[in-house]
Amino acid sequence: MAIEVFAPAKVNLALHVTGQRADGYHLLDSLVVFAGVGDEIRASQDDTLRLHIVGSEAAGLTAGDDNLVFRAARVFASDRGAAITLIKDLPVSSGIGGGSADAAATLKALAQLWGETVPTREAALALGADVPVCLNGPSPQRMRGIGEQLDPFVGLPGPLAMVLVNPRVAVSTPEVFKALSRKDNPPLEEVRDGFGTIPGLIAWLKRQRNDLEAPAIAKVPVIGEVLRYLTREGCLLARMSGSGATCFGIFDGQDAARDAARRLREAHPGWWIRETVVIT
Ligand code: C5P
Repeated sequence: MAIEVFAPAKVNLALHVTGQRADGYHLLDSLVVFAGVGDEIRASQDDTLRLHIVGSEAAGLTAGDDNLVFRAARVFASDRGAAITLIKDLPVSSGIGGGSADAAATLKALAQLWGETVPTREAALALGADVPVCLNGPSPQRMRGIGEQLDPFVGLPGPLAMVLVNPRVAVSTPEVFKALSRKDNPPLEEVRDGFGTIPGLIAWLKRQRNDLEAPAIAKVPVIGEVLRYLTREGCLLARMSGSGATCFGIFDGQDAARDAARRLREAHPGWWIRETVVIT
């Protein structure tokens, strides 16, 4: 029997850097949602722990011991085995949490396979700052601390049609954090009476930011080009996710998203482009 767990892309609709801890990790305040596109983990019984990677983005990573899927498995494997297949559709090091989503999906799949409880948030955090939010997903969440403080973000209007675009440049997260000019930005603006409709959400989002966008563009200028393309395609909001380079555009309906994705693909056949709907 194979267990299948979807590992959806995480998107930071807003990401404020509000401080820095003594150990160097940054304090964040972020609205995190999950998309309908992502990787998939399949796990079945086996004597040893084995990992096989397939899919459109498989070439981007190796199935070595340091792969996050293995590291997640070792959290509670002891001497148990499992044959794990990672179907990789999300680009590596791209700001939409591919590795974190895979780690969280591995924890869920192996817990099911082995009849165990899913490891704690602390164990997930030790694998990476974005793993707890992925483990808690796919509903929208407000993420604070370095990623361990999670609250449900209720009342997000939908359906939110989105186009994700990655210009195929891997971005180093530590380098982008290091290039930040301010690390004491204000938190997300409190939402008083809910957003109501999608335009209400967009108006609120436009008053928030991704504080990592400017330093990421300074290092990887093509990110600015991606945002300009999305804006030219008439999206309601274009922004970078995480530390980049993937950017998202929110569109007025799925038809508009599909048309924009098609035109972007024609103009940039080398870019990774997916149209999707946010899981609300
Ligand atoms: O936890 P993770 O391995 O995903 O983080 C990668 C790097 O990103 C960290 O080593 C750190 O330099 C930076 N980071 C940070 N603050 C966070 C998350 C990540 O400074 N909240």
